Amino acid sequence: MYVEMKIVRSVREMQRMSESLRNTGKIISFVPTMGYFHEGHLSLMREGRKRGDCLMVSIYVNPTQFGPGEDFERYPRDFERDRNLADGVGVDVIFSPDDREMYPEYYQTNVNVERVTQNLCGLSRPGHFRGVTTVCAKLFNSVKPHVTIFGKKDFQQFVTIKRMVQDLNMDLEVVGMPTVREADGIAMSSRNVYLKAHERESALSLSRSLKMAKGMYEKGERNARNILEAVKKFIEEHPYTRIDYVKICDTTTLEDVDHLQGETVLALAVRIDKTRLIDNYVFGDVLDI
Ligand code: PAJ
Repeated sequence: MYVEMKIVRSVREMQRMSESLRNTGKIISFVPTMGYFHEGHLSLMREGRKRGDCLMVSIYVNPTQFGPGEDFERYPRDFERDRNLADGVGVDVIFSPDDREMYPEYYQTNVNVERVTQNLCGLSRPGHFRGVTTVCAKLFNSVKPHVTIFGKKDFQQFVTIKRMVQDLNMDLEVVGMPTVREADGIAMSSRNVYLKAHERESALSLSRSLKMAKGMYEKGERNARNILEAVKKFIEEHPYTRIDYVKICDTTTLEDVDHLQGETVLALAVRIDKTRLIDNYVFGDVLDI
């Protein structure tokens, strides 16, 4: 029997629905998003479909994770398109509250994960991760999932959410999924729509530099500085690029490392004119480009 996908706008209704599903023994999987779906989002939903009886997806462009002067207002939104795509992958419920529902008057509580949010994007986006962890905690308390699926494209976000869930004893499994890329290698992102045609070649420098770093690693290079210098030089050779950071970090602490030992990640943030793109590569992993 085909049951129509539901759209839920209120926290209370979401909680009631999830509570009764839990009481009948259903496993709830949950994919939090800011909408404007692409294949990356859909891959998380397909995984969620496999892992749960009921698949919930949230669409909420969370104002508290955008800094002043960032792209909150112009962030792409298209609810009808998202609704159809979600329906196509078998989503059961879209939870899409508005700002008043999420942050009513007198709202004043935040979740802050300390050390892993300090490096990388935390350096250039102060307050960003506090916004992400706070909204995710609120979404988890609304949707009450057993399992939640995140993309490793936002590697620091994935590590931070895992940390929060562990540190606050949330009864929830956090699953990480590989980065989905365009045919040319660019990591899919809702922000790719900002790229003008002549900027795409420059945007390709991110994934291509990861591939180059992977090649160096496979030839035995373990000195972080040698890889970082090669990557920076490669990216800077492309027009319109401005490097925010290029770093190699331990995947658990997200602190910089000098030597590639244990599990380490190469993480990049690069501005192409006004568009800020991120990408990463965990050394030893596959990279399909
Ligand atoms: P958003 O950018 O919409 O991303 C939603 C989820 O999709 C995140 O887990 C993100 O890592 C994943 N994702 C994005 N691009 C991907 C790609 N190319 N391949 C695989 N997964 C990808 O991340 C957020 O929203 C917000 O910060 C949120 C967690 C919803 C909190 O507001």
